[in-house]
Amino acid sequence: MSLAVASTQAGGTASSLRHLAIIMDGNGRWAKAKRLPRLAGHRAGVEAVRRVVEAAPDLGIEILTLYAFSSENWKRPADEVSDLMGLLRHYIRSEIKELHRNGVRLSFIGDWKALQSDLVELLEDARQLTANNTGLRLVMALNYGGQDEMVRAVRTLAADVAAGRLDPAAIDTDMVGDRLDTAGMPPPDLVLRTSGEQRLSNFLLWQSAYAEFVATDILWPDFDRVALADAVAEFATRERRFGGR
Ligand code: IPE
Ligand code: IPE
Ligand code: MG
Repeated sequence: MSLAVASTQAGGTASSLRHLAIIMDGNGRWAKAKRLPRLAGHRAGVEAVRRVVEAAPDLGIEILTLYAFSSENWKRPADEVSDLMGLLRHYIRSEIKELHRNGVRLSFIGDWKALQSDLVELLEDARQLTANNTGLRLVMALNYGGQDEMVRAVRTLAADVAAGRLDPAAIDTDMVGDRLDTAGMPPPDLVLRTSGEQRLSNFLLWQSAYAEFVATDILWPDFDRVALADAVAEFATRERRFGGR
């Protein structure tokens, strides 16, 4: 079934998709195809973020997690890393009022407190400003890696064991989940990746245990409301079993 057809047939079933997580990929290829510098691709990617944040609540999505910068993206040339940090700064500064007005609650996962101190301050202010909002929960994964997140969680458990506060035999999946950056959040129902790549690239490894996965060939800067509706419709055709029958 084509995505477009599914989108018509599945009308009204989108409400089961509470948490959508997106691996926003393809900014560089978008720019290359247009013979533009990579920065132009990342800038256009920010526009796609604006569109998706606006459209998500209309599709019944309650939590939107966006993979914006991975713990492995530091391997990129310094000028690209600096461009990405600059765009993040610009996005928060220019959007925060509008996000707040729209009731968006902004938070972050990943080792974001290791970013530049002025950026950490800006992010923390934005988080606090919107902490009591009840609309879309927008989670930005910044300096995020699933393995790094698990290592940090394991360290806190190990510290509790070493201090005699925790019996190793008492450690269970809930306890591990509670030490992850996503503590208290339901796991993603759908992980969506743009640009045709079909890999997780260290995104939400623990949390995606039973997530559906959709890969679209659309490059992130071209992603829009229609593409989002198509992905939601594709999700609605999936039968989830969680290991049961
Ligand atoms: C996604 O686009 C943005 C980030 C990873 C920060 P890319 O920059 O990875 O674009 P491609 O994959 O090279 O096309
Ligand atoms: C994943 O994209 C990270 C983000 C979208 C932030 P990458 O472009 O970094 O992933 P790989 O290197 O192609 O796996
Ligand atoms: Mg990429």
